[in-house]
Amino acid sequence: MSAPATDRNAEQHDNGRTGVFSSTRAQLSARTLRTDRWWIPPVLTAIGLGAFVAYATVRSFVRTAYWVEEYHYLTPFYSPCLSDSCVPGSSHFGTPFPELPMLVPLGFVVLPFLLLFRLTCYYYRKAYYRAFWLSPPACAVAEPHSKYSGETRFPLIVQNAHRYLFYAAVVISLINTYDAITAFHSPGGFGFGLGNVVLVVNVVALWAYTLSCHSCRHITGGRLKHFSAHPVRYWIWTQVSKLNTRHMQLAWITLGTLVFTDFYVMLVASGTLTDLRFVG
Ligand code: FES
Repeated sequence: MSAPATDRNAEQHDNGRTGVFSSTRAQLSARTLRTDRWWIPPVLTAIGLGAFVAYATVRSFVRTAYWVEEYHYLTPFYSPCLSDSCVPGSSHFGTPFPELPMLVPLGFVVLPFLLLFRLTCYYYRKAYYRAFWLSPPACAVAEPHSKYSGETRFPLIVQNAHRYLFYAAVVISLINTYDAITAFHSPGGFGFGLGNVVLVVNVVALWAYTLSCHSCRHITGGRLKHFSAHPVRYWIWTQVSKLNTRHMQLAWITLGTLVFTDFYVMLVASGTLTDLRFVG
C-alpha cells in the first residue's frame, strides 16, 4: 500500500508517473503519517459490499421462494418477472420471454441496469475505489498504483453513463412501487400484513436513494442561470439537495432494505414464517 522506496527513486527519472509518484508530490517513504485506525472504514465497506453482492447473486439465481401467491408478495430481485419460467401469478407485466436457462436470473431485464446504476453511483465509486481498489484506501494514505488516469479512459470513462442509468433506476422504482401496491391483497380481496410494511418501507427507501442521486440534482436544478426565473425547478432542486446530503446513508439503507425484503418474502414463500396479517 505504501509507495515503495525504489519506485519513488525511479520516479525522479520518470516524468510519466502520476498520482502520489508524481515528481511534484512530497517524497515520503512512510506509507502514511496518519496514526488513527484509518483502515477500519475501507475494511467495513469491503465486508458490507461483499456480503450484499454474495447474497444478491445467490438469491437472484436460485429461483425459489420469490413469490407469495396468497398475498402477492414479490421480491425485488425477481421484479419484473417476464418469462415463462416465472411461477404463475408473479408476472405482473406478462411473459414476453420464453423459458430461460437456469444460468439466466429471472430478473435479467432490470438486474444489469440496477447493478450498473449502483456501480456508477458517485458514492459507491468512492466506497469501492477505497475498499477494493485502494485508490486511495483513505485520505492521506498513499495508493499502490503508480499511474493515475482518473475516469478519463476505458473502462472507468463508462462511469459517465450514470446520468442515463438514473432514468432506468426511476423506471425500476416505478415497477417496485407497482409491486408494493399490488401486494395489498389477501385470498379474499384487499388485505395487508407485515409483508406490506416491509415492501412499502423498501420502496420508500429506494425512492429516497434514487431521488437523492447527484444526477437527479443536476437534472432538476443544473444549468439554470437564474433560480428566480424557475421557482418550481428551484424548489424541487432544494428538496433533492436535502436528500442528497444523505446519499451515502441511503445507499447503505437500501442495501439493507433490499436484503431484508427479499429475506422476508423468502421466509413467507417457503412456509418458514407465517405473515403477520392486520387485515385479510
Ligand atoms: Fe449515487 Fe446517482 S450518485 S445514485
